[in-house]
Amino acid sequence: MAEPLLAIQNLKTYFISRDSTVRAVDGIDLEVYPRQVVCIVGESGCGKSMTSLSIMRLVPKPKGKIVDGQIVFQGRDLLKLSEKAMTDVRGNEISMIFQEPMTALNPVLTIGDQITEVLVRHRNMNKRQALAKAIEMLKRVGVPRAEQIVHEYPHQLSGGLRQRVMIAMAMVCEPKLLIADEPTTALDVTIQAQVLELMRQLREDFNTAIILITHDLGVVAEMADHVVVMYAGQVVESVNADELFAEPLHPYTQGLMASIPTLDEEKEVLYSIPGTVPDAAAFPEGCRFASRCPLAQPSCFEKMPELREVKPGHFVRCDVV
Ligand SMILES: Nc1ncnc2c1ncn2[C@@H]1O[C@H](COP(=O)(O)OP(=O)(O)OP(=O)(O)O)[C@@H](O)[C@H]1O
Ligand SMILES: [Mg+2]
Repeated sequence: MAEPLLAIQNLKTYFISRDSTVRAVDGIDLEVYPRQVVCIVGESGCGKSMTSLSIMRLVPKPKGKIVDGQIVFQGRDLLKLSEKAMTDVRGNEISMIFQEPMTALNPVLTIGDQITEVLVRHRNMNKRQALAKAIEMLKRVGVPRAEQIVHEYPHQLSGGLRQRVMIAMAMVCEPKLLIADEPTTALDVTIQAQVLELMRQLREDFNTAIILITHDLGVVAEMADHVVVMYAGQVVESVNADELFAEPLHPYTQGLMASIPTLDEEKEVLYSIPGTVPDAAAFPEGCRFASRCPLAQPSCFEKMPELREVKPGHFVRCDVV
């Protein structure tokens, strides 16, 4: 296989305050190859967003801190770059789109100003060239009346349109890697399908690799080449998408699969994994899933299992399977 575009090793991102340390991301490994779609799944609070913000080096300061690990992108450790060099990477080689576009769009700038700003900064274009390119990109992501919309403000647009504008802004420099953090959760189902289709199309057009964060396994089934399942700040399973759905091995992944709604009318009550995720400021000693796990043995509560390759290319953090 080719070299990975992105290789994360032992990343740890903590929130440190006087009386607690929240281990939001606690030693994850993750690889993304060119053109690959990697989905990160897992319950709320397991560290998905903090992983993506760590890659962008946008972890909330001052409490949030990357305390260990490497994030190697195209051969360079992003954690060793100067802030200035990182500014050249962000929005240019790596872009991010967020769940709620209003947090990423500037309410006092027109759509055109926001997109052209990216081009003027990274592509050295003049205003007129940049505006033409912005309009072209907006059309490409299916924004109607693009010539007029560049003069409008974010609040004048619908949620679906704002999300498209944010995708246009993220893609306008043709990044090698797009990180999409729950990009469709706030959208209704039809628009959601359109946005996913758009991301697939952009991958075809620009060869962009995508890290797609979602807790919707339907989205995973549709989009992912590779899936990383996170639980309590760690990777618990990592494997290609076909194999994950054919044979999920970690008891947590199996629980997630069992919670997918089906059309089976017999199964009226949806399975949900009993118990709750442990507090990230006070993780237990052993396996972090043990207290909820139907297969747990006494030893699981004592020793943290390693992420091990149980079959070629199929990694699982569980000593029982
Ligand atoms: N600003 C912060 N200060 C302290 N702890 C934080 C902060 N932001 C996030 N955390 C903690 O870090 C952990 C990981 O959060 P993160 O936002 O990455 O979860 P997530 O997987 O993206 O969840 P969701 O599916 O709800 O978006 C959680 O335990 C969360 O409480
Ligand atoms: Mg999140």
